[in-house]
Amino acid sequence: MPTFNLKINNKTHTVETDMDTPLLWVLRDKLDMVGTKFGCGIGQCGACTIHVDGNAMRSCLLQVSQAEGMNITTIEGLSENGDHPVQEAWEEVDVPQCGYCQAGQIMTASAFLKSNPNPSDSEIRNAMHGNICRCAAYNSIEEAVKVASK
Ligand code: FES
Repeated sequence: MPTFNLKINNKTHTVETDMDTPLLWVLRDKLDMVGTKFGCGIGQCGACTIHVDGNAMRSCLLQVSQAEGMNITTIEGLSENGDHPVQEAWEEVDVPQCGYCQAGQIMTASAFLKSNPNPSDSEIRNAMHGNICRCAAYNSIEEAVKVASK
């Protein structure tokens, strides 16, 4: 089986797996980084969102062989102590209900705010609309992104 060197949260991890294994499976099953969630496995829900070279991407759609040489950040590496402005805004607004989608939401929001630090309400809605929340906490999610942008 081939081996892959992955740069995740500023550390290099070597994993042995099939080349078409989705990165999501590698993160969760081989590296025990279970903050990144499995929702649909087909790129539809956003629960598995990570940053790849600073851009929000769905780790269920990225094969491990494509991820070599890229800078990968998961929710575990977004901040030292859960104190990224988006994480703090999430707490301030008290967003989570069941909490399952939150890591993906936060990873999408943090990449978005990096590229657009002062978004309008409609830009926030557009940026977040691909991340599904089964509790439908969309108003709180948008509010938290707004708080984080201030
Ligand atoms: Fe990847 Fe749903 S698990 S988008």
